[in-house]
Formats: sequence, C-alpha cells, structure tokens
Amino acid sequence: MIRTTTEQINRQYEFAAKIKKLYSHHTSAPLAMVDTYGCQQNEADSQRIRGWLTEMGFEQTDDEALADVIVINTCAVRENAENRVFGNVGALVHTKRRKGGEQTICITGCMVQQSHIAERIKKSFRHVDLVFGTHAQWRFPELLYNVLSEKKRVIDIEDCDGYIAEGQPVLREKGVKGWLSIMYGCNNFCTYCIVPYVRGRERSRLPEDVIAEAKELIAAGVKDITLLGQNVNSYGKDLGLDMDFADLVAMINDLEGDFVLRFMTSHPKDASKKLFDTMARCDKVAKVFHLPFQSGNDRVLKAMNRRYTSAGYLELVDYARSVMPDIVLTSDVIVGFPGETDEEFEDTLKLVERVGFDALFTFIYSARVGTPAAKMEQGTTKEEIQKRFDRLVQLQNDISAKRHESYVGKTYRVLADGHSDDIRFPLTGRTDGNRLVRFVGDDSVIGNFVNVKITGHNTWSLTGEIV
Ligand code: SAH
Ligand code: SF4
Ligand code: F3S
Repeated sequence: MIRTTTEQINRQYEFAAKIKKLYSHHTSAPLAMVDTYGCQQNEADSQRIRGWLTEMGFEQTDDEALADVIVINTCAVRENAENRVFGNVGALVHTKRRKGGEQTICITGCMVQQSHIAERIKKSFRHVDLVFGTHAQWRFPELLYNVLSEKKRVIDIEDCDGYIAEGQPVLREKGVKGWLSIMYGCNNFCTYCIVPYVRGRERSRLPEDVIAEAKELIAAGVKDITLLGQNVNSYGKDLGLDMDFADLVAMINDLEGDFVLRFMTSHPKDASKKLFDTMARCDKVAKVFHLPFQSGNDRVLKAMNRRYTSAGYLELVDYARSVMPDIVLTSDVIVGFPGETDEEFEDTLKLVERVGFDALFTFIYSARVGTPAAKMEQGTTKEEIQKRFDRLVQLQNDISAKRHESYVGKTYRVLADGHSDDIRFPLTGRTDGNRLVRFVGDDSVIGNFVNVKITGHNTWSLTGEIV
C-alpha cells in the first residue's frame, strides 16, 4: 500500500481530538515547538506536523522552556547535521527537568529513520519520549497519544518504501513563500547519499492533489511557490498517466493568480529539453534552475553513480541558455569524494568556470553509514580536502560577484518579503532568479511584486531602489 485510505487518516484526526481532551484541564492552550534541521522537504514535513499539533489544540512557540511538546525534525545528509541534533537534544535534559518532567520530547525525520541512530537515542537519551521515522509521520497523533496516555516511550521507525498520505492538516508559515511537495522518496542511490535509505522509493502525488494544493496556496496569498521532490524530473513515472513533470509545471503555470513558480531538485540524468522549452514558454515559471552536478570529473561521477558525464551536463546547460539566455543557474558540489585526486578536482573547478553559476552550494564529503561510498578508500587528508574546498569557494565567490555586478543599472521584478538589518536598505526581496535584494521602500510593499533598480552588489546580494 502506498496511498493511505481516508479511514486511516480520519483515525488520526480522532487521536488528535483525544489528545486535545487530555490537555483540556489546562487553563491556557498547551504549547508546542517544532525545530527543523533539514532541507525544504523537511520544512514541508514540519508544516504537516504543526498542522497535526494545531488539530490537537496546541499553539506554537519558539521557546523550548515553555513548550509542553517538542518535536525535533532531523536531517541525515551530512555528519554535522546529525551532530547538531545530538548536541541540542542532549541539552533538552535540563529543559525537561526544569519543567519537572512535564515535557514530551519527540524526534522525527531522516536521521532517526536509520536504526543505528534510533538505537542510540533509545539507549543514551532517556529523556526522549517518542522517536518516529519519516514513514511514521502521518501516524504522529496516534504515536503521541500512546506516549501521553500510557506514559511510556514509543519508538516507531517502520522500514518500508513509504506512503502518500493525503488529507493531513498543514500549518504554513505566514508569508509569501510556499512549499508544495509533488513527490516523495528517491530511487537514484547516488553512492554517497543517505536520502534513498531514509525517504523510501519515489512516489508521485496525483496531479489533481497537487493542483488542489497549489490553488489553496494561491488563495492564501502565497506568491512564490516551490515544487518539491528529490528528483522532480521523474515526477509521474510511477503514475502510469500520460503526463510528466513538464506537463505538471505547465498545468500549474496556467492557474489563475499572480505568482512565481519554481521547483527543486532536478537530476541532470532526467532533465529534458522538453522541460527547458516548457520553462521558456511559461510566463510564471522563474527562469532559474538548480541542477546539482556534484563533480566535474567523469570517473568520480561514475563512482558516485550519477549516470551522466560532464559533457552531458554542459550540453544541458547550453541548451537551457539557448532557450532562456538570462537563466540563473545554481548547483551543488561535493569536494573530497573518496578517491578524488587533485587532477580530478581540477575538472570540478573547470566546470564551475565554464558554466559560471550564479551560486553554488559546496559540501565536503561526509561518509554516511550504509552507503556504498562509506566503504570506499578515502585517500586524501582532511587538510587537503579543506584546501580544495577553499579554492572552490574562492573561485565561485569571484564568479558570483561578477554575475551580480552585471545586475547593476538594470531593473528586476522583486517579490518583497520582509525587513533587512541594514537601515539604508530596509526591505528584502527576491528576484525571480532567487537573488537576494535589499532595497529602499516602505512596508506597504511587503508581500507584493515591485520593480527594483539595482544600484549595488556584493558576493551574496544586491541592493537597489523601487522604480
Ligand atoms: N536530491 C537532490 C539533493 C539532495 S541532498 C539531488 O540529487 O540533487 C543535497 C545535496 O547534499 C546534494 O546535492 C549533495 O551535493 C549533498 N550531499 C548529499 N550527500 C552528501 C554526503 N554524503 N556528503 C556531502 N554532501 C552530500
Ligand atoms: Fe541523494 Fe542522489 Fe537521490 Fe539526490 S538523487 S537525493 S543526491 S540519491
Ligand atoms: Fe532533506 Fe536531510 Fe532528509 S537533506 S531529505 S532532511 S536527509
């Protein structure tokens, strides 16, 4: 079973109602804190968890000292993400003690979907009451009810291919930006990556469910919609319908409303010319593409099981630019994959130089338990890898600064989204290409699109004034 039934979800609403009763003797609403450590998918999951908590009668707080229930939503993609979680969960011992034990601590997400981590939490973090993996998230009300009513610890990290659980409540953040999950899981098994092990197999939501949520977002005033999936280009392959990701993008583009549409992430092996053509033609689709290349060297790409070559990657980039000359390109890179030599790393630098990305997300390789790469010989010292990393960052900073310089004097449509901490440029916003702009203007424009003339720049952002 991939899709949960309406009955199954309704049962969860019943558990949520029971939890609400458990707290009904409180004089004020109980408080919950949800802390998110992962990517946008995890953010979207946290919004569903907050949705359930709202059903249970909780109000949200950012203060862990006040929270009756704490949910830590974790990420497993690199070791430092996990270490942060261990540190912060460890510190909650004191928080809970100060509340006389009257605090329920829950951990969920990708990290605890791994059995060795769940085991470690069970043994060494006795103050944690509930551990539930990504696949158990739609059963959060039932699990929490069992913890609260029976006063016992619950660990549920069911190992399976994953579910699609429609009909869950969502509590979105106020503001102009909205996440929209279109699919879950990943089938690619890049050899360094833990995601396929903790998120299950690729599964697509039905187009009608995606469209319905898109309409909901637009009606709620969201003006910047990001479609989410680990590999959005394989959307629909499991549905047996006569449509693909490009078709879905076109369908959402045709919805009424003033919004900008983006998506992430795309895998180069599945990015199609049809998708670029669709982007070029669809007026609401931001001309921006996040296309992780990971390495510029073909041997390393093969060892990573990425299933494209650097030449194939460049061909995609060239095609995208041929149909969208001003497209903003961003990417992810891993430095220090096991066995990467200095010469092989040079190929990464060459690719970065050749493409001239607007921005790059650079990561030092981190071995993940259970992945094939974790068994490969490293062969390079930490210091050498750090040197490579610094060179890459320096190169990209120079490129980003140059690209930002080319914005100066031009006018861009910017979605004003909040305040900056710079009194000279008090507002912040994003161009369609997702570049950060700080600009002069008054609060009344927040939440709207405005035209901003760019007057200055640095490596990371632009400054300007409304025209
Ligand atoms: N599904 C997306 C990326 C998900 S993870 C894709 O395939 O593009 C986000 C990024 O984290 C990856 O693109 C990769 O650059 C990085 N990453 C993943 N596993 C890693 C690891 N073990 N060590 C270092 N970086 C990693
Ligand atoms: Fe990880 Fe590769 Fe899947 Fe991205 S495509 S989530 S990097 S396995
Ligand atoms: Fe996202 Fe981290 Fe999981 S990157 S999918 S939260 S491992």
